[in-house]
Amino acid sequence: MLSGLKILLAGRNPSKAREIAATMTPLGISVVSLDEIDPDGKILTPEETGDTCAENARAKANYYAAATGQPALADDSGLVVDALGGAPGVRSARFAQENFPPHASRADIDKANNAKLLGELSGIDEEKRTARFVCCLALSDGQNIIAEASGVLEGVIARKPRGHNGFGYDPLFFIPEMGRTTAELSAEKKNEISHRGLAVRKFAAMLKEMLEKDKNSCLK
Ligand code: IMP
Repeated sequence: MLSGLKILLAGRNPSKAREIAATMTPLGISVVSLDEIDPDGKILTPEETGDTCAENARAKANYYAAATGQPALADDSGLVVDALGGAPGVRSARFAQENFPPHASRADIDKANNAKLLGELSGIDEEKRTARFVCCLALSDGQNIIAEASGVLEGVIARKPRGHNGFGYDPLFFIPEMGRTTAELSAEKKNEISHRGLAVRKFAAMLKEMLEKDKNSCLK
């Protein structure tokens, strides 16, 4: 039913794109990256001004769908740390912005963000280091948001980085039941349990239902 469907992935984070594509493709939905459509970066990255990840996902999806004329799926995600009152939350990507070197690479950004997180939690005991990854997905047809889904993964913030897989805060995000950080999981295992994997599977089920109900959908 979903076979042949192509959705533009609204954003330029290659790690997110890989994770979303790995879950979507086996379900018959192909993902086109923004870089494929706009290799020269003519479409500017919008500022993220929302107070929640759902708001940011909706704004990004509407922006990129309007800019490209294609249905666009946006992922806005982040890390919510209880001992920091929910920070970095919607500011996860730019948490340590003041420490980013000029022309910072993604690796520089992840390093600075992780260092700041460890610093802010330095005096905090084990049982108070609880946190969760949150992922919000929104699909826009250029005018309206036509589907949304979200997912959450619970864990605790480790005292030092472990593992080299994944991206962002993965080396510090420890899952007690697995005895590993998400950076120590294979890509397949992370997708099976992650906030993003969960959100994408919910989203795909929703999309399937929508397409079955509306045979004239703009997505066909
Ligand atoms: P945004 O959705 O582009 O605003 O950025 C989300 C930020 O949250 C990323 O840059 C990462 O720092 C963090 N993040 C989101 N999902 C993950 C994940 O699966 N692993 C590690 N960090 C993540």
